[in-house]
Amino acid sequence: MIEKKQVFKPNKEFAKVANIKNMCEYYELQESAMEDYEGFWGDAAKEKIDWIEPFTDVLDESKAPFVKWFGGGKLNVAQQCIDRHLETRKNKAAIIFEGDRGDIQTITYLDLYKHVNRFANLLKEDFDVKRGDRVIIYMPMIPEAAYAMLACARIGAIHSIVFGGFSSEALRDRIEDAEAKVVITADGAYRKERPYMLKPVVDEALEGKTPVKKVLVVERNNEDVAWVAGRDYSYNELIKDKSSVCEAEVMDAEDPLFLLYTSGSTGKPKGVQHNSAGYILWAQMTMEWVFDVKENDTYWCTADIGWITGHTYIVYGPLAMGATTVMFEGVITFPDAGRPWAMVEDHRVNQFYTAPTAIRVLHKMGEDEPAKYDLSSLKVLGTVGEPIDPPAWKWYHEEVGGGRCPIVDTYWQTETGGHMVSPLPGATPIKPGCATLPLPGIMAEVLDPATGEKSEVGETGYMCVTRPWPAQIRNVWGDEERYITSYYSDVKKDGRAVYFTGDGAMYDEDGYITITGRTDDVINVSGHRMGTAEVEAAIKKHSNVAEVAVVGKPHPLKGEGIFAYIVLKEDEGLADEVEEVRTINNIIKKEIGNIALCDDMVFVSGLPKTRSGKIMRRILRIIAKGEVVTQDISTLEDPSIVATIASKVQSCS
Ligand code: WT7
Repeated sequence: MIEKKQVFKPNKEFAKVANIKNMCEYYELQESAMEDYEGFWGDAAKEKIDWIEPFTDVLDESKAPFVKWFGGGKLNVAQQCIDRHLETRKNKAAIIFEGDRGDIQTITYLDLYKHVNRFANLLKEDFDVKRGDRVIIYMPMIPEAAYAMLACARIGAIHSIVFGGFSSEALRDRIEDAEAKVVITADGAYRKERPYMLKPVVDEALEGKTPVKKVLVVERNNEDVAWVAGRDYSYNELIKDKSSVCEAEVMDAEDPLFLLYTSGSTGKPKGVQHNSAGYILWAQMTMEWVFDVKENDTYWCTADIGWITGHTYIVYGPLAMGATTVMFEGVITFPDAGRPWAMVEDHRVNQFYTAPTAIRVLHKMGEDEPAKYDLSSLKVLGTVGEPIDPPAWKWYHEEVGGGRCPIVDTYWQTETGGHMVSPLPGATPIKPGCATLPLPGIMAEVLDPATGEKSEVGETGYMCVTRPWPAQIRNVWGDEERYITSYYSDVKKDGRAVYFTGDGAMYDEDGYITITGRTDDVINVSGHRMGTAEVEAAIKKHSNVAEVAVVGKPHPLKGEGIFAYIVLKEDEGLADEVEEVRTINNIIKKEIGNIALCDDMVFVSGLPKTRSGKIMRRILRIIAKGEVVTQDISTLEDPSIVATIASKVQSCS
């Protein structure tokens, strides 16, 4: 059994040619950033970005925590990702797409240039999309989704992708919050060789009053869909006569590039705003450092573009550096749990990046599958989204990576834009389940929230970032107050508010950072953030629900599952409960989507509350785990409720 503390040194052959070859190089970089922070980032930005006009100022903190990077600089992110590669890479594959039914498309940088420009012209000419307009993208994993993102970037429109698994209500909320005037979608796509639909969800989301004027529909599966005349247009038709030349809008370094909604501990999802230059710089730098992608490599990240991982590490990062990125439509365990390994063999994938949830499922469903394929092309394996447990790590390392590939356990968030704490594959000795050290330039520290001092070894503290970094969230869309309260009001260091991630973390004796999980009421389901308040709000829509509290519970595959304690207004016993579960599940599907369905729903007679009426979630989490409550519960309004709930949970499990 691999122990958490076991150390695996980098592969020597790999390290020789890596971008960062050893720990000395790492420490030199990190020290240079500490000594001259602006110099470090200014040099990086000069070297990595093809500026249309150079920046005059590196970092402006005068209105902190609202920060500005690379003031005066002008660029276009689509040019950074495409045009600048044409001279040397026009015939290189930019995107290799593998569809659900095994259909493959290779899109070169020149192809990508043309697709994106035509798309951009379409948005401008037929949809009147202008610089600064918000465009919602509700798309399956098809190349047109990437074209849509880059087309927005080319004309200076701000895209906001909504994950295809979100419901019409969730989509409506995001459309309204972003005040989007256009939605780009598809009729649907394929999953397990069968069509599934997206357009009907958009139709529902747009019912009634909506800021959306027009909908662009990519015809992917050609199933019948409703069509609203004057609102809905076929991409496949309109794109035909579009020019493949489209001048790129000259954007300021700090012009918004995209919004991506993510769950917090309270209220509705927040529109995390990322701006142009800083984001693309860090996306590119982390690709080069953390995945060590070389000119002829093929890189594959299995995420969905609906999440930040898909934004930064399927589209923007790989393309900014001129890499070949694999894009996959479908289900990773279909037709069997050998699918990803077959794809690694077929495309000679060199870097493979996925979530611990996927690794656990692939391990469980296909322990021996990797051995059936030639995985010798693999050089770096990555994980993201949640802590990886030792058995999954061991299998990934030995069976998938053949013991020779470093695993980069990348810790970051929607708000950070790119990796924050991660091993460097040619330098950092790795430990299973440990994100190791802050990347060069990133001042990530585990702090004691009470003192703002670095936490002691072995003590859980707050995972913070004590200096601004280029790819950081700039604002919560339309809500400056929420930006400050969500990220800059929990921890102070030397009297200054610092960015708090919401995660707990711990240093070990080597100074390595292990993430211990959220400190707030956010649940991490399969590496995706789910706000308890959101799920509770959905459940409360059922007229027979009096009260509800939702907590996370450890789940063998998903990391965490959702556990709901529900007090019904009228409880007519067991027969009734089965029906209520069905009703509530339907409501959750409609309000949020299948990803928020509860793993457990227990009907209780009351919730544990303090005298001031605050629900004690800590106690509910303990009961959900099946553990005995040993905490002092005397401050509760009704301490006897704890035993009642615990016995109900026991009888249900
Ligand atoms: C939250 C961010 C990062 C892109 C995907 C999820 C958790 C992320 C790790 C890791 C342990 C991790 C944190 C974080 N998380 N990476 N390597 N080890 N936990 O993005 O939806 O914004 O979620 O995921 O709790 O705050 P997200």
